[in-house]
Amino acid sequence: MNTQEYLSLPRNFATIAIHSAQEPEKWEHLSVVPPIVTSTIFKHLSPAVPKLYAYGRAGNPSRNTLEECLAAIEGAKHGLCFASGLGSMTTVLGLFASGDHIICSDNLFWGTANLFDKVGKPLGLDFTFTDVTDVKEVEKCVKTNTKMIWIETPTNPTLTVIDIRAVSKIAEKHKIILAVDNTFLTPYFQRPLELGADLSVYSLTKYMNGHSDVIMGAIVLNDETLHTKLRFLQNAMGIVPSPFDSAQVNRSLKTLALRMQQHSKNALAVAKFLEGHPNVDKVLHPADILLFFYQGLPSHPQHTLFKKQTAGHSGMVSFYIKGDLQQTKRFLQSLKVFILTESLGGYESLAEAPSIMTHASVPEDQKKKIGILDNLVRLSVGLEDVDDLIRDLNQALEIK
Ligand SMILES: Cc1ncc(COP(=O)(O)O)c(C=O)c1O
Repeated sequence: MNTQEYLSLPRNFATIAIHSAQEPEKWEHLSVVPPIVTSTIFKHLSPAVPKLYAYGRAGNPSRNTLEECLAAIEGAKHGLCFASGLGSMTTVLGLFASGDHIICSDNLFWGTANLFDKVGKPLGLDFTFTDVTDVKEVEKCVKTNTKMIWIETPTNPTLTVIDIRAVSKIAEKHKIILAVDNTFLTPYFQRPLELGADLSVYSLTKYMNGHSDVIMGAIVLNDETLHTKLRFLQNAMGIVPSPFDSAQVNRSLKTLALRMQQHSKNALAVAKFLEGHPNVDKVLHPADILLFFYQGLPSHPQHTLFKKQTAGHSGMVSFYIKGDLQQTKRFLQSLKVFILTESLGGYESLAEAPSIMTHASVPEDQKKKIGILDNLVRLSVGLEDVDDLIRDLNQALEIK
């Protein structure tokens, strides 16, 4: 029997998210909600002596408030925001020079793989895409010019779990940066820096903002040297977010803990329902009970690993419907509460077919290898009443 417990939820998370970097005293008018500062320019006290800010690309009070809050909720020293999740990844690539080598998972959000392959490679960076669930394989890929290992866990859309601690040991041994895309779980459920990673990277567009109305990204870290370099690149490459968007995300962090708890509960109920449905072939969700019933393995390695490095799971559930692409399309078009679209992490429930939507451009052999089949459906379970969600899935699954 599996006795591994989940990690504890981070202490005082909601209090930190609500109060950290939000002190009214830092504004002259003592505003409780941080102001949206739209000015791109700030008067100098004397020539070449700005007070705190000089030019909006280099720093902005609304953005810096969010950056400090992001660092605080992860118990980290520094946070940096970018104009999108991919913008944060592009900025990370700016750390390297032509000829440098990067090891990355062969099971990544397609946009990350696309950025590495189509933008990083032509710039002279060398990438090895490999199965990072096999830690020995990762070590075999290390070369003298390897500078970074990039992983995402759990992966999008198959929810495969990667052992952050094990990969971090390899990174540490070879003095390589480890970056973890933590978009799917947020620091409420998973804290990569505490597990040995150097960079915790986010698409804030998803759960962190949670209202499907902002595109933004972030990097959270402790290392001073990397922070100085990334702070320079943030300004030099200029992939910065607007003050309006920064204020939206800063607002959204106040309810992150509550939202994640409810996403998690709803997703588990949905996964259990799906698991018992005759028109469902297999459910992908890292919670134990499902793996127990599905694979008959109470000590499934992924399940134990998942519990060892997280405090719970978000609203992401994937499943294989019984049938082919036509059946998948019929199911998706029959949904009435779930909205048929890409993306994830908002308050509303979403459904999509990765093989022809988010992951359509993944080469066919790779899709097969990692399980992105035509009958795979990815759900982002939102915050609606869960009975309505289950009723919706049930009626759509019944349609032949
Ligand atoms: C896991 C993951 N990382 C990064 C991104 C990219 O983020 P953005 O769309 O904010 O550029 C996405 C977008 O779907 C994602 O799912």
